[in-house]
Amino acid sequence: MAGWSHDGLFTMMRPSGKLAIIGWPVSHSRSPLIHNYWLAAHGLPALYEAYPISPTDDFGAALRAMADAGFVGANVTVPHKEAAFAAMDALSPAAQTLGAVNTISFKDGRLLGDNTDGDGFLAGLEAAAPDHGGKDGWQNAPALVLGAGGAARAIVAALGRAGIPDIRLVNRTRDRAEALSGLAASIAVGDWDARAKLADGCGLLVNTTSLGMAGQPPLDMPLDRLKKAALVSDIVYTPRHTELLRKAQQGGFIAVDGLGMLLNQAALSFEIWTDTRPRIDDGLRALLLADLTKKD
Ligand code: ATR
Repeated sequence: MAGWSHDGLFTMMRPSGKLAIIGWPVSHSRSPLIHNYWLAAHGLPALYEAYPISPTDDFGAALRAMADAGFVGANVTVPHKEAAFAAMDALSPAAQTLGAVNTISFKDGRLLGDNTDGDGFLAGLEAAAPDHGGKDGWQNAPALVLGAGGAARAIVAALGRAGIPDIRLVNRTRDRAEALSGLAASIAVGDWDARAKLADGCGLLVNTTSLGMAGQPPLDMPLDRLKKAALVSDIVYTPRHTELLRKAQQGGFIAVDGLGMLLNQAALSFEIWTDTRPRIDDGLRALLLADLTKKD
């Protein structure tokens, strides 16, 4: 969209510049921990906080209040990603495609919206399996994606951008999967009950459903038809080691937990605001893991 620009904001940032994650509820979010770690590491004079906005609030008015209060950027999470999309003055191509915004820049009185979820997911895969994206790797094999919610939306669009030749998408409610089929030319929707068969020859399996999360039913997903050394990704991180990932490890597959997507979408947002790609280092991982263990 015209007017889209990725210039970092910190050149113009006042010492009181603030960043936030907007959501409802939002107190459980790990984004403040992650971003404040990077702000400190880079010596940037800003604070990142959780900023609850109720679904019944006037979302546009809340964003204007944030701009007046000195916020220069914000992440957006459930349930506001679509409302944020509607409130922007300019959108990145990724946000435009998804109809959802997870990263806002407040710049010169304008609201710029981006979406880093899909590229964050891809970056997480690449970090987890740096040697597996080649000719015989997951990028040149079919992929099977389970689920059709907001995360699946970002993931199938990103897999399409990454050139995955055959993206097989299944969801319990088939209509919801069909609704995502326009996001990439290589998406083919299948039946939820055919998922075991559809895994045949896949180099990547991604679970975006809530099955296997704490308090949810288990995910019944046989892995035996996947390609050798395929990537198996579960986007949830509570619990971090889901039954699916445990099974994947036992079967000789590469298990990719949900922390990669969480950290990489955050890193891409941080880069949009600061023009600096922060490092996902051991210190940050340790801090995050300690926090996850403490609260979950
Ligand atoms: P997101 O958080 O990614 O936006 P969501 O909208 O909460 O996702 O959806 C959760 C996903 O888990 C959906 O794909 C949902 O399937 P439906 O669209 O049919 O509801 C899936 N899901 C939840 N419980 C399930 C179950 N018992 N069996 C199969 N799929 C299930």
